[in-house]
Amino acid sequence: MISKIFGIIGDPIDHSLSPQMFNSFFQKKNLPHLYLRFHLKKKDLGRFVKKCRGWGLVGFNVTIPHKESILPFLDKIDPAVKIIGAANTVVVRGNRLIGYNTDAEGYSLSLRRETGFEPRGKSILVIGAGGASRAILYTLGRHGARQIFLTNRTRSKALRLCDEFKRHFPKTAFKVVRFHPTDLAPLFPKIDLLINTTSVGLKGTGFKNLPPLLFLHSKAIVSDIVYRPLITHLLKEAKRCHLKTHGGLGMLLHQAVLAYRIWTGKKALLDAPKVS
Ligand code: ATR
Repeated sequence: MISKIFGIIGDPIDHSLSPQMFNSFFQKKNLPHLYLRFHLKKKDLGRFVKKCRGWGLVGFNVTIPHKESILPFLDKIDPAVKIIGAANTVVVRGNRLIGYNTDAEGYSLSLRRETGFEPRGKSILVIGAGGASRAILYTLGRHGARQIFLTNRTRSKALRLCDEFKRHFPKTAFKVVRFHPTDLAPLFPKIDLLINTTSVGLKGTGFKNLPPLLFLHSKAIVSDIVYRPLITHLLKEAKRCHLKTHGGLGMLLHQAVLAYRIWTGKKALLDAPKVS
């Protein structure tokens, strides 16, 4: 008899690794739980959130393209969701839906576990100004990063994001840098961490406008949120330069562990999913 049901909504959803992560944990631990995937078009989101309250769902994850569009349907949101502007975890409590964002903390947790990196007092270069960047800027600000350089193909988006996050985290110095090797090269020796938050790297793609990673100092860490492939072009290049690297799979794993804790108050000993 299934006692708890969880799930994930998104479009597309077939590629989501969350059902695999959760269901194999439930099986291994003999837990009478089930994690389902819901393929949901944007137009059906309202109908889903109205109906799901009667299904016995404990909670669900939210992925592309619903992380932002779910917000108006939630009865309450965590303060982090308000700043990030996106929720990836929803708790169904009686008739109420409560939204959280575990991507942000999941990223920091994974970075700390895998590399020992603590953002406090550090200089960090963030590439990208989309939703993933917002979650990462939030967690870096919260963990006391000293200085964050933000660069993006579309500069206006980086400027907007920078203004916004400056207000939320006045102790962190945010600065926009043009996405061009001549502007980025002088920064490279000064930064402790370089993070790619864009989709560049997916399926073997790479950046054209980054200076050589050899310009980074030898203790710098290169982090990529892309996990398909596990070792992206950027990480390959970093490894070639003998730099410490951090891939995207850990963020996926830790955001799930944090979501499970929010849903149940318990720790999930999830295994990293297999990436094809
Ligand atoms: P997500 O929510 O996953 O972050 P998004 O909000 O669509 O997705 O943001 C994608 C990010 O990847 C943006 O910063 C985008 O740059 P633009 O703002 O210029 O669109 C960046 N991006 C996507 N493809 C890129 C490419 N080929 N080169 C550089 N940046 C790219």
